Amino acid sequence: VDVLTPSLTTAAAPRLNRHFLDSLSKLAKSLAPLASGLEARFRSELRKRGMEAPEIAAISAVTTGALAEVLQQRRHLDRCLEEVHYRGRRLAKLGLLPAEVSAALRIYDGLLDRALRRTNGDSRCHQWPLSQLAFVVMLALNDAYYRVRESESRAFYDLFRAELEGGPPEAILSRFLSVLAEYAGAREARVFLRNGGQPAWDAQLLEQARCFNPAVLPAAVLDPAWNSWCRTCWSIPLKPGGELSGVVQLGFAKEYEWLPRERELLLAASERCSQAFERARLIEDLARREEQIRRLAGHMIEVEESERSRISRELHDEAGQSLLCMRLQLEMLEQGLPADAGPARARLAEIRTLAEDTIVEIRRLIAALSPSILDRMGLAAALRQLGARFRQVYPCRLRLALPRRIALPRQVEIVVYRLTQEILNNIAKYSGASTVNISLKLADGMLRMHVEDDGVGFDYQSASARRECFGLAGIRERVALLGGSVRFNSVVRNQPPAAGERGWSDAPGGTIIDIELAVAGGVPQR
Ligand SMILES: Nc1ncnc2c1ncn2[C@@H]1O[C@H](COP(=O)(O)OP(=O)(O)OP(=O)(O)O)[C@@H](O)[C@H]1O
Ligand SMILES: [Mg+2]
Repeated sequence: VDVLTPSLTTAAAPRLNRHFLDSLSKLAKSLAPLASGLEARFRSELRKRGMEAPEIAAISAVTTGALAEVLQQRRHLDRCLEEVHYRGRRLAKLGLLPAEVSAALRIYDGLLDRALRRTNGDSRCHQWPLSQLAFVVMLALNDAYYRVRESESRAFYDLFRAELEGGPPEAILSRFLSVLAEYAGAREARVFLRNGGQPAWDAQLLEQARCFNPAVLPAAVLDPAWNSWCRTCWSIPLKPGGELSGVVQLGFAKEYEWLPRERELLLAASERCSQAFERARLIEDLARREEQIRRLAGHMIEVEESERSRISRELHDEAGQSLLCMRLQLEMLEQGLPADAGPARARLAEIRTLAEDTIVEIRRLIAALSPSILDRMGLAAALRQLGARFRQVYPCRLRLALPRRIALPRQVEIVVYRLTQEILNNIAKYSGASTVNISLKLADGMLRMHVEDDGVGFDYQSASARRECFGLAGIRERVALLGGSVRFNSVVRNQPPAAGERGWSDAPGGTIIDIELAVAGGVPQR
């Protein structure tokens, strides 16, 4: 059997009946004088093939010769199979491949056959018990390998799940620890983080993965309480960036030296563990910073709006009032002029009209600076007012599709209002569009704004790079302040021919702007 597959050890049990045990007894008798010489030859063969001492010891304990002897002496089948199983688990944890084990056992069988033939002249009488025994051993080894691999893959699967479940870094660590403790059968598993206020560490001692007896190396046990019960400690360093940031320690109440695969699994797990911990810490840090930025963003929006209101108030109270006063005085001057002052009257009327136009312009500025309608009547009314004003300065088909009820956090409303203002200004100034559609949709805690015009379009990259233009940058910045996203998609109408092409393109042109803002959570509701 070169490849060991999970199988039923128990299937062999009925075969081990009395007749079998008697045959074994005869075999053991023939083997007794040969056993030690055989084992010595076998061990030297394995050494020649480069096997290590622990591997040789484990394989030598499951040869048919070794088992025949044990069975013949004790006749305790279960105990004997338990021993094979235990050795099999050790072999699996030592990292020996099943094929290597069966190849080694075939070498033993060859040596045994030759030795029997030399002494008896005929080895056929032992053929049947030998083959039965080999069969039972293989089944037990199969099962042992299967169980070890199964517990390894379960540990990896559980570690993977512990990582996927996420949560705060401490929760991830504690899940990792319970998986490792269960895998190794440890009584306790602990993680010690270097910045956790522990007394000074002996980094040289802890930087290495080691399995030790606390009585021999007490300084390496990080929980002094363990010294009273712990007979073996497995210590694995956590070094996410190459620097020692923590140590995982597993405590056993009995002597239990780790085997290569256990050590490998623990090293791999500790690496995953420190990466997961580091990632969780970064995520937590990021969330904290995001929260800070969100608060700052809210504050900045408020500051900007209050500054705009102050300027609008001052425009109203100072420049606005002075202009009104000037207009009145001009009117009075006009009325007080003698009848024959024709040219002067015309000049005064001109200045009065100029003052009146300036007053209208200042009113428009005041309204644009501080959208009091937003506070009084809400976003939908404020956007409709923007639309009506847009139509006055730029007559085109404007469709506004708004949800029936919009109740958004104040900051989001202000941002949406300012975005719409800038987008409509740009359309009026540059697009030459005949149709403009604006839609606002609220779903799944997101506000989606879609604006499209069928104008001339523009090259977004070069427009964004222009130093004297602030509108597009302002749109991006406001959206980013609220943690949203914006996408510009503009097609330039009637492009000049590209290299190697003839004639101008007749692309229809136009600009589409898609904006997404989160409106649930994060931003305080009004
Ligand atoms: N809807 C549009 N259609 C066509 N061109 C546009 C449109 N929107 C923007 N643009 C182009 O993008 C350029 C940059 O726009 P942006 O709003 O950043 O600056 P601006 O409007 O020129 O100046 P500011 O907004 O700072 O007063 C504009 O100069 C214009 O060429
Ligand atoms: Mg602009």
